[in-house]
Amino acid sequence: MTSSTPDGVVPANHPVDSDDSDPSFSATLIAWQRQHGRHGLPWQQSREAYRVWLSEIMLQQTQVSAVIPYYQRFLNSYPTVFALAAAPVEDVMEHWSGLGYYTRARNLHQCAKQVVEKYQGQFPADPALLQELPGIGRSTAAAITAFSYGTVAAILDGNVKRVFARVFGIAGYPGSKPVEDLMWKRAQALLPSEGIEAYTQGLMDLGATLCTRSKPRCQQCPFQNRCVAYAEGRAAELPTRKPPKAQKEKQAVMLLLQHEHQILLERRPPTGIWGGLLSLPELDGMQDCSDERVSVDAQMVALRQRASQFGDISAMHVLPVVIHAFTHFKLHILPVQVLLDKRHALVAEDDHRWLDIRQAEEYALPAPIKNLLVSVGAQASFAFD
Ligand code: ADE
Repeated sequence: MTSSTPDGVVPANHPVDSDDSDPSFSATLIAWQRQHGRHGLPWQQSREAYRVWLSEIMLQQTQVSAVIPYYQRFLNSYPTVFALAAAPVEDVMEHWSGLGYYTRARNLHQCAKQVVEKYQGQFPADPALLQELPGIGRSTAAAITAFSYGTVAAILDGNVKRVFARVFGIAGYPGSKPVEDLMWKRAQALLPSEGIEAYTQGLMDLGATLCTRSKPRCQQCPFQNRCVAYAEGRAAELPTRKPPKAQKEKQAVMLLLQHEHQILLERRPPTGIWGGLLSLPELDGMQDCSDERVSVDAQMVALRQRASQFGDISAMHVLPVVIHAFTHFKLHILPVQVLLDKRHALVAEDDHRWLDIRQAEEYALPAPIKNLLVSVGAQASFAFD
């Protein structure tokens, strides 16, 4: 059976629920890692879980070259998990300063304390237990236990997702739950019974050195002869990028209150969109369109009530919707023209102004409002001329 993702993507040509085991994958990767992978990194010189854990936390969102000096400084200041747990958190933060993503530093300190309190300073060899500690997710837990204890457990970080997406031709955004679940299944099924350290390091090394996001070095890749993305020329499109968020839409009923050639404008609040500019009076402000579209018909009573504050209504017309795109949302303006045959006086300190619609071009108004007034003004003058 083949499952599709909510993104509507069925990973092309590849069984996902059937037996994904594939011993030649791990054998190829282990052989490649032993010959071509990275071996001289500072944290590879020891299997001590404290050192491995420290390096894996630092490497979570940071490049190897940036991590190396921090890793060495941390070990000098805190040579054991006991030393780190006993340090004031401010000192730990200071040591971390410059590495970024500072939640990692707080979690690191908390984690050290828990390992001392719960496990007498011994990091557990079971990834499920390790994963309960602060700052350690499923993939990091597997990497730590593989490198320090040889535990056979699957990793799946961004680099590994890229390798899997390409080698196995797995389409769909890997950050989405169904694609990620599918990749975890793969990761689990591909695990070797021997050589987990070289295998785990090999996945990391392949993603970091050959199967890079841009300009992958396919000619040097041990999987070139079986890579789906390479065979189909799809390395640039895999892994599938994050789909763009649906643009937000808002709507506002706006009143074009007209008395002869004059139109009523209202000053907007100083903050928010069009802050401080004159604009058309709005009924109930801007609403999110995610639930239901506002129906102007359903609002006729409220509209009439609002409009009658300014004069005696002679006619009302619903005008065509105007759509204006902001960077973060689209605004649907629902204009309602209200003709008054008698106008009430405005309160002195009021934020309202009657202005001549024929001069709308000259006022400092929001662009779509100006355009609307210019077109309504042109029709009005056509009707009057
Ligand atoms: N990224 C995450 N873990 C790593 C490791 N052990 N070596 C190199 N890069 C890594």
